[in-house]
Amino acid sequence: MEYRTLGTTGLRVSAIGLGTMVHAGHFGPMNDAESLSAIDAALELGVNFIDTSDAYGAGYSETLLGKALKGRRDKVILATKGGNIMAGPNRGKTDFSSVYIGRVMDESLKRLQTDYVDLYQLHNPNVEVIERGEVWELLERRKKEGKIRHYGVSINKMEEGVAAVKGGRSDTIQVEYNMLVQQPAQELFPLAQKANVGVIARAPLRRSLLTGKLTVADQKRFLGEDVRARNFPGDLFAKELEKVELFRFLERGSGRSLAGAAIAFCLAHPAVSVVIPGARNAQQMRENAAAADLRLPLQELQRVTELWRNGFRA
Ligand SMILES: NC(=O)c1ccc[n+]([C@@H]2O[C@H](COP(=O)([O-])OP(=O)(O)OC[C@H]3O[C@@H](n4cnc5c(N)ncnc54)[C@H](OP(=O)(O)O)[C@@H]3O)[C@@H](O)[C@H]2O)c1
Repeated sequence: MEYRTLGTTGLRVSAIGLGTMVHAGHFGPMNDAESLSAIDAALELGVNFIDTSDAYGAGYSETLLGKALKGRRDKVILATKGGNIMAGPNRGKTDFSSVYIGRVMDESLKRLQTDYVDLYQLHNPNVEVIERGEVWELLERRKKEGKIRHYGVSINKMEEGVAAVKGGRSDTIQVEYNMLVQQPAQELFPLAQKANVGVIARAPLRRSLLTGKLTVADQKRFLGEDVRARNFPGDLFAKELEKVELFRFLERGSGRSLAGAAIAFCLAHPAVSVVIPGARNAQQMRENAAAADLRLPLQELQRVTELWRNGFRA
């Protein structure tokens, strides 16, 4: 496994991490034995960065991780998030007040069965919160108390990432980055790199589309809490799959999988410290971890970026 420094935190993170949203059933039904096998495989392979959130299954993913890491908490750099209300009348809204974050952070620590997390991330705050939120003072206090070692943001829009870099308070930025979503490389990564803000690239497989294994027929099984129902409604799913086909040249004749190439694409950007694909089981974890050894030739990287720049006109 390759290790990289996560910006100013100085943490040495494995280039491939593990995203645990899938373990809470957000990619269809899961069973704990499979989830635990993915976590075990991660540790065996030298993967030391694990990302979760209190939002994944309303705490389910954190609880499972807490159990899985019992007796080996020190082997991982643990990152969680808060700010999304997952229960009660305000379910679906966000709250970044220091009172709310202070409370849910303690609840996360309890579920994770630990005294501290290495990284606490505000989960999708808007620019207003990033620029003027009172929560930053709370995060600093909690850092001094030793409950969190570092703090950062997980963002959706480029302007949120830019605000986080300019604000100078966020140690890290987590953002979706993959062959289909390349805006961060243009609009955010150069700024983050200059400011030495650690970049965590999430959803490198565009929620499994970039594995190349899905067809239009799969859409009908994306129901309920499956993120793909929400992320790719109507004909958007078919349109995204058409774009995925344009990346087949990456696997042709090379023996590489498309998933491996998709993860390697993310790692090729020097601003990226860690890529966090979700892994449903040990086999997916092994395949994803292997991508740390894959180097895509410059010509192929350029072709991937060209396709994105041209709006995926082949
Ligand atoms: N706002 C936020 O902060 C936010 C949002 C999204 C994600 N995240 C974080 O980023 C992590 C990763 O994103 P993600 O899980 O949404 O998407 P992803 O990593 O792009 O896709 C993960 C899914 O792809 C499939 N997969 C993974 N490895 C595979 C392999 N080797 N071969 C075939 N299929 C494979 C699995 O689904 P199937 O087996 O069902 O195909 C898996 O659940 C999350 O777990 C979470 O930690 C954060």
